[in-house]
Amino acid sequence: MTVRHFLTLKDLSPEELRFLIRRASELKRLKEPYAPLKHKVLGMIFEKASTRTRVSFEAGMVQLGGAAIFLSPRDSQLDRGEPLEDTARVLSRMVDGVVLRTHRHDTVVRFAAYSRVPVINGLTDRFHPCQVLADMQTYFEHRGDIAGRKVAWIGDGNNMCQSYLEAAQQLDFELHIACPPGYEPEAELIREAGAHAVLSHDPISAARGADLIVTDVWASMGQEQEQAQRTAAFQGFTVTSEVMAQAAPEALFMHCLPAHRGEEVSAEVLEGPQSVVWDEAENRLHAQKALLEFLLTAHN
Ligand code: CP
Ligand code: NVA
Repeated sequence: MTVRHFLTLKDLSPEELRFLIRRASELKRLKEPYAPLKHKVLGMIFEKASTRTRVSFEAGMVQLGGAAIFLSPRDSQLDRGEPLEDTARVLSRMVDGVVLRTHRHDTVVRFAAYSRVPVINGLTDRFHPCQVLADMQTYFEHRGDIAGRKVAWIGDGNNMCQSYLEAAQQLDFELHIACPPGYEPEAELIREAGAHAVLSHDPISAARGADLIVTDVWASMGQEQEQAQRTAAFQGFTVTSEVMAQAAPEALFMHCLPAHRGEEVSAEVLEGPQSVVWDEAENRLHAQKALLEFLLTAHN
């Protein structure tokens, strides 16, 4: 059987995504020890910083009976010029799965092409599917099925936004994106999303009647030198109580974290009653466990 990877949300069918969302909530409720990944090892190569992604995969592997090995490129031969393709072939003969967090999305695609074991995208410059899986689990737990709902993405058309575009197609909701001119997601991804995506530069109309409002930092990892220019460009794109007031009364607020209070979201919204950001962060653990169980047992 060909090996399954999780590089974007489109690597799973809509049915498989819905299964993982349900399974993540089941694993969350499970009280007794459950070790389907006994003796399995996950390799983790991170080019960028991480709190949630790293801890959720490492804790998740231990809780499922396995173990994880964390490698920063600085500590491996990658930084001394060993080709990625060689690293993929060597590592995948020793471990049962690999999580990569990289700058270029192409790096995870190249790694997967040479890997004998499942490769998981733990964030690239283009996509963050693991986070959106946890976000979807969080929405389903609080409000039920997201199909037919209106979701507003306010801010940068970044990796998170682009995974939301894929989630909209896979789970059948409408994504209204409001970003400053010049900070739109890739045109091709918008085109692929068809009627599932509505692009504008107006946070208020994007938020109007929305069931879920989502934002993320204005400068992602690797864009630190653009911070000042972005801060200027994103004025008016803060998710404030006024923006939340446009949404449906039962609307939720999500943010993948880390958050910058007073920039992309006000402290009042982040800490307010509609915010589910702590559940969302916790669900990284449960969603990652469901994904690991799915990729490291059922198909391999
Ligand atoms: N949301 C998220 O991926 O967080 P980390 O960068 O801490 O992993
Ligand atoms: N868009 C952010 C997400 C961090 C989890 C980044 O790439 O830095």
